[in-house]
Amino acid sequence: MNPGTPENVANNAYQASAGGHFDPGNGAPPLLQVQGLAHRYALPRTRLWGPRPQLAALEDVHLRLHAGRSLGIVGASGSGKSTLARLVMALEPPSSGRVLWAGQDPRRMGAAELRRARRHIQMVFQDPFGALDPRQRIARIVAEPLAAQGGASRAEQRRRAAEVLEQVGLAASALDQYPHEFSGGQRQRIAIARALITRPRVIVADEPVSALDVSVQAQVLNLMQQLARDFGVTYLLISHDLAVVHHLCDEVAVLHQGRIVEQGPPARLFRSPAHSYTRALVAALPLAPGAVQTHLT
Ligand SMILES: Nc1ncnc2c1ncn2[C@@H]1O[C@H](COP(=O)(O)OP(=O)(O)O)[C@@H](O)[C@H]1O
Ligand SMILES: [Mg+2]
Repeated sequence: MNPGTPENVANNAYQASAGGHFDPGNGAPPLLQVQGLAHRYALPRTRLWGPRPQLAALEDVHLRLHAGRSLGIVGASGSGKSTLARLVMALEPPSSGRVLWAGQDPRRMGAAELRRARRHIQMVFQDPFGALDPRQRIARIVAEPLAAQGGASRAEQRRRAAEVLEQVGLAASALDQYPHEFSGGQRQRIAIARALITRPRVIVADEPVSALDVSVQAQVLNLMQQLARDFGVTYLLISHDLAVVHHLCDEVAVLHQGRIVEQGPPARLFRSPAHSYTRALVAALPLAPGAVQTHLT
C-alpha cells in the first residue's frame, strides 16, 4: 500500500509488475497466482436431446498477487468477477487452469492441509445482510474462521473476536449482539473483522462496499487501507467501480466478458486507457480522475 501521490503509486506498481517476479524479500512465490483459468457453467437444455449449452464465465485469466501490492479487478455486472472470487477461494473447481496459494494448488491439498491453508486467505462478501447469520451472536460469527481452524478455546476465540472488532472500530459490547442491531456499514466492518481473525495474508473482497451509501463506502475503504498498512493484508479487491479500486489498489485488471482486457497501475488506466471498455469505464466515472481520491477520502 502506497501513501503519496498517484504518480508514486503508479511508479511503484509499475516497478512491481515490470519484473514479473517482484518479491519484497525472500524469493517466496506470489501470495496468489491464477494461471489460464477458465470457467463454464452448464445451462439448462434448450432442446430435449441437444447437448447442454454452456456459458463461458471466465476465459484464460492470468493474475499474480504479490505481498503488499493489492490488486483490483474491475468489470461490469456479469463479467465474471464473483466466479473468479469463488475459484480463487477454492469454493468451486475451475473448468480449466489453476489457482495457486503461495505456490500451492489448494485442489491438490488434503482436507487438513486445505483447512490450515485457508487461514491465510479469507473473503469478504458483497452483501452485509446476507453474509452474517442472523441467528448467531457477533462473537460467534466473527470467531467462526478461527473455530474452523481448530485449536482455539472458546475463551481465546472470544478474546480474539473482541480484538479484531476493536481493530475495525467496533466496541467489545458488539460481541453479544445480533447482526440486525447494526447498520450496513457496521455489518461490513463485522465481516471484515471475521476475515481478519485468522490474520490472513490475503483478503478477497467481492464488491465490499457496493451495498453501502457513498459516505459509508469511504469509511470502509479507509478502514481497509488502514488494515493493509497495520497488518500487511494484501487485497484482491473486486468492484464494478473503478473509483473504488483506484482508492485501494496498486494495480488494476479490467475484466470484460470473462477476459482480462487490460492491466496496469490505476493512474495509468485513468490517464490513458488502452481498451475501449476501459475507456468507457473511465468516462462513466462521476468525477474527473483527479477528484476521485478526494471524493473517497
Ligand atoms: N451458478 C451459475 N450458473 C449459471 N450461470 C452462472 C452462475 N453463476 C454465474 N453465472 C453467469 O456467469 C456470468 C458471470 O457471473 P458472475 O461471476 O456472477 O459475474 P459478476 O460477479 O461480474 O457480476 C454471468 O453471465 C452469470 O449469469
Ligand atoms: Mg458479482
